[in-house]
Amino acid sequence: MSKLIVRDLKVNGKNVFLRVDFNVPLDEKGEITDVTRIKASLPTLTFLILQGAKLIIASHLGRPKGKFKPELSLRPVQKKLSEYLKKEVVLAPDVIGEEVEKLKNSLKNGEILLLENVRFHPGETENNEDFAKELARGIDIYVNDAFAACHRAHASVVGITKFVPVKAAGFLLEKEIKYFEKMFQAKEKPFTLILGGAKISDKIPVILNMLDKVDHILIGGGMAFTFLKAAGKEIGKSIVDEEKIEVAKEIMDEAKKRNIDFQLPVDFLTAEKIEKGVEVKTVEDGMIPGNHMGLDIGPKTVELYSKIISESKMIFWNGPMGVFEIEEFSKGTTSIAEAIAESGAISVVGGGDTLAALEKAGTKERISHISTGGGASLEYLAKGNLPGIEVLDEVR
Ligand code: 3PG
Repeated sequence: MSKLIVRDLKVNGKNVFLRVDFNVPLDEKGEITDVTRIKASLPTLTFLILQGAKLIIASHLGRPKGKFKPELSLRPVQKKLSEYLKKEVVLAPDVIGEEVEKLKNSLKNGEILLLENVRFHPGETENNEDFAKELARGIDIYVNDAFAACHRAHASVVGITKFVPVKAAGFLLEKEIKYFEKMFQAKEKPFTLILGGAKISDKIPVILNMLDKVDHILIGGGMAFTFLKAAGKEIGKSIVDEEKIEVAKEIMDEAKKRNIDFQLPVDFLTAEKIEKGVEVKTVEDGMIPGNHMGLDIGPKTVELYSKIISESKMIFWNGPMGVFEIEEFSKGTTSIAEAIAESGAISVVGGGDTLAALEKAGTKERISHISTGGGASLEYLAKGNLPGIEVLDEVR
């Protein structure tokens, strides 16, 4: 069984509701600073326009908490979209209501109406049924291309699908599912899971769910210190999540039982504080001075991890190896990015910080799939499915 994909639909003259993720970063002037997510939706948009759909697009932007917030209007997105599509894109004054209905009803084949930020209504995040029904009013086909929002059981992602007869995935979502399916099937071996970043709590469910699929787990970033403390190592004043020490121990025991190669950093770059120009020490595992914190993996860890990566056939990476935004502590992360690019393995990378690290290393083009979802990609790996994907139609 696989999901119904937009290419298999006859959309000409049909009212198509397209959920995308245009949750793009804005600067203080309200200008979009990264258009990746808008560009990623263009194949589905172009297809629907060329096939003559009457297109109603919905997205959230930020977290306006159910209130109209002018600074979170989709106006900047409407302008960019219109520029990319070389076509008029009408921005509706609201998400639902009489005026929006009028605009929907006046659409001709191939025309586009962008609804205002769906989160301007509290019904969106509450997955309110009446609100979902309003979103679905007059809609013939629902298409989801918002992978990055598929972990949210919200009205425009889940609730609406109860009231629309046909529910398909867009091309971006199709591609995301294809790569994640590869990770779940874990046919390419060795399969290496690389996890970093400061927060351990959102990575633990990923490790637990992927334990029976992976061969190597390489840990870096701030989260490594909770594992290191659980292993009885001296970590100085490095960041640690005390509440997760017990589960960290259990994970390491379980990995050992299953013969999974679970690696923690063997050396570190440390400093007294997180600051540019600070004095940096390279120290071995267990030797972090009391007044220092670990801020990057060291050269021996880079060598060890790079060797494992070079022998891998499949890799998933989320989370930097250190405080890579500061030059002094960026080497570990950029070296791992280079090793993955060099490996020739099927590689999937997710998470905003990790993508920024790929940009910094200049290796983006050599990664098989850069996921557009941060939270969504972690939750997908942790649960094996996402609410927004589950509700789409299946085909044989
Ligand atoms: C994201 O940027 O990860 C998605 O757009 C989801 O946004 P959210 O965390 O505000 O639901």
